[in-house]
Amino acid sequence: MVPMSSWLNGSDEYKKAKGIVEFLEERAQYPDQMQVNYALRDVLNPQRGEYLLEAGSGSGVLCRLMARNLSPGGRITGIDISPEIVKLSQEYACNENLNNLIKFEVGKASELVYPNGSFDGVFAARLLLYIINPLEVIAELIRVVKSGGRIVLMDWDFETLVVDHSDRELTRRIFHWRNDHKDGNNWSGRQLFRFMKVKDLKEVTVYPVVTVATDDNSSLTQSLWHAASGALEQGIITPKEHETWVSELKLSIKNQQYFASIVYFIVHGLVP
Ligand SMILES: C[S@@+](CC[C@H](N)C(=O)[O-])C[C@H]1O[C@@H](n2cnc3c(N)ncnc32)[C@H](O)[C@@H]1O
Repeated sequence: MVPMSSWLNGSDEYKKAKGIVEFLEERAQYPDQMQVNYALRDVLNPQRGEYLLEAGSGSGVLCRLMARNLSPGGRITGIDISPEIVKLSQEYACNENLNNLIKFEVGKASELVYPNGSFDGVFAARLLLYIINPLEVIAELIRVVKSGGRIVLMDWDFETLVVDHSDRELTRRIFHWRNDHKDGNNWSGRQLFRFMKVKDLKEVTVYPVVTVATDDNSSLTQSLWHAASGALEQGIITPKEHETWVSELKLSIKNQQYFASIVYFIVHGLVP
């Protein structure tokens, strides 16, 4: 365990970071997120002895997943803009005895401190949707990768979300609000291919991952509850509509008839 300084333990920033990191770790345990994360690992294809970078590493769950393939001789660096999140991600890596394979550093994805061509591969997952100028970040990711090295980007596209609910109008109202007003650019997934083409990456290939939720044990299902409660808080739906919408889905879960699905886009390209 990395010792935490006492000022950090008590600060609001630390509490906020702890909440984010715990959310990210908990989310990564859901079967649908495992499916997406394993697919990302397959596309990135980390190899023994390689040097990799993750931009926007959060709790470090993906760095830990990739790190095991790099030994011996390889290493992964995760950078995150939040110093508190970086400290917490170091703790998780230490707890899994992976600190010799993973280095977490504070850094901004658009201003990396690494020399040109430092890495065999770089990835950014669930990051670009939060970035105002993603092309600036992608240019920086390309700069730090060797010629012939790989860039892998991943985001969901919220507008690919479907759920089997009897009230189309209400469902659309909740989803349109969620899509356009929460968590940044929820169309990021569909834009990743174009971003890579604009930056002249080679052999750009898209790997869509369709996740399906048929019960409550799914991060997608949790997203639906959050979407409904967010829409309620913002006055997009009434308390009565919230109750009706959620209880129909809960009943369909109980009756084993519930179905929801969303697409994540993993895009792979090579640096010229
Ligand atoms: C949704 S989390 C994703 C974490 C991880 N990639 C995953 O998939 O589990 C996004 C992370 O990106 C970080 N972040 C946001 N903007 C950033 C930036 N400009 N540079 C580096 N990290 C950033 C946030 O602090 C957060 O930890």
